[in-house]
Amino acid sequence: MTVVRRAAPRTTQPECGAAPRRTAVTPFPRKGVGGKVDFADRLIRWQKLHGRHDLPWQGTRDPYRVWLSEVMLQQTQVASVIPYYLRFLARFGDFAALAAAPAEQVMALWSGLGYYARARNLHACAQTIVAEHGGRFPDAPEIIASLSGIGPSTANAIAVFCFGARMPILDGNVKRLLCRHAGVAGYPGTPTVERELWRLAESLLPGKDVDIYIQAQMDLGATICTRSRPACVLCPLADDCVAYRQDRLAELPAARPRKALPERQVVVLVLICGGKVLVEQRPPTGIWGGLLSLPEIDARADPDSETTRRGWRILSRRTLPDLRHAFTHFRLHIRPLLCQVEAVGVTDNTARWLDFASLDKAPLPAPIRRLLATLDR
Ligand code: ADE
Repeated sequence: MTVVRRAAPRTTQPECGAAPRRTAVTPFPRKGVGGKVDFADRLIRWQKLHGRHDLPWQGTRDPYRVWLSEVMLQQTQVASVIPYYLRFLARFGDFAALAAAPAEQVMALWSGLGYYARARNLHACAQTIVAEHGGRFPDAPEIIASLSGIGPSTANAIAVFCFGARMPILDGNVKRLLCRHAGVAGYPGTPTVERELWRLAESLLPGKDVDIYIQAQMDLGATICTRSRPACVLCPLADDCVAYRQDRLAELPAARPRKALPERQVVVLVLICGGKVLVEQRPPTGIWGGLLSLPEIDARADPDSETTRRGWRILSRRTLPDLRHAFTHFRLHIRPLLCQVEAVGVTDNTARWLDFASLDKAPLPAPIRRLLATLDR
């Protein structure tokens, strides 16, 4: 029974007619040591029976759709990505539409998905595809990996799914799966361990059905070989999995060496006037780069002098409960200061008064959107 619904290999790239790279298939032993069915075969069989086949980005080899989904799926789970992917695709259907879009619209559609550098890179990448590649997505993994926001693992996944390449991937799920199965010690984020894992991933590649195999690794990692409480009794790799056989699931993969995350405190001003709230565009780089957010002041600054300096007259104010948000490199404590202010024009062209009714469509960071939604209610 074949239930995998990746489209059959095409001889042309959907939106551009370029010939795909047909990678040479090297012979690969189908039986492992002692006549056992080998690693890749077990994964491929498992995928056909138990893997995911109806995700919205499956059943196509269109590089735009595959690329968009793979970038959204970096650091984000499938269930969170699906609605964003569908909205994004409905609004920007191809590289040209995305490349021509204003950055603010791109950020608005990304808002809530997190890791906003991905959205900026996505936009830049679409512009590169149009300006430098004649609107055609390149098919060579090393060229794909040179595009904004695409690392080697994402590049290989795209090359496998769109162009039938025979390449391994090494995302977080696959690192966990390989560390457990082969008993690879050491934190997988360190260069030495990562190099070892790439070598291992390369050595395990099957000679055919590479797309099914890669999807199997993604699906097994996400649904069975999960970080906590893996479902080993359902795993096709359990028989010779080092972590399972040696009862070392809790220690493999090794955790990131602990460093206390620095804490940062900011005060955000929720300036309200006539049912509108003042928002400012954040600088293009740094946290929440390019998104709209609330004016921010240093936690040690005096709010009165800061608001006076900016030309706002505060009629009343009240401190709201702190919000906390964890970034990769620090923890942010946000103290919102709710202020009724006297009407003033905004002189700064990165600031504007936003209607509460327009919050849904505005490119706001998730914690700020949640804060404003509670005020709206
Ligand atoms: N994670 C990364 N890429 C994925 C894909 N194509 N399907 C499911 N999960 C993924």
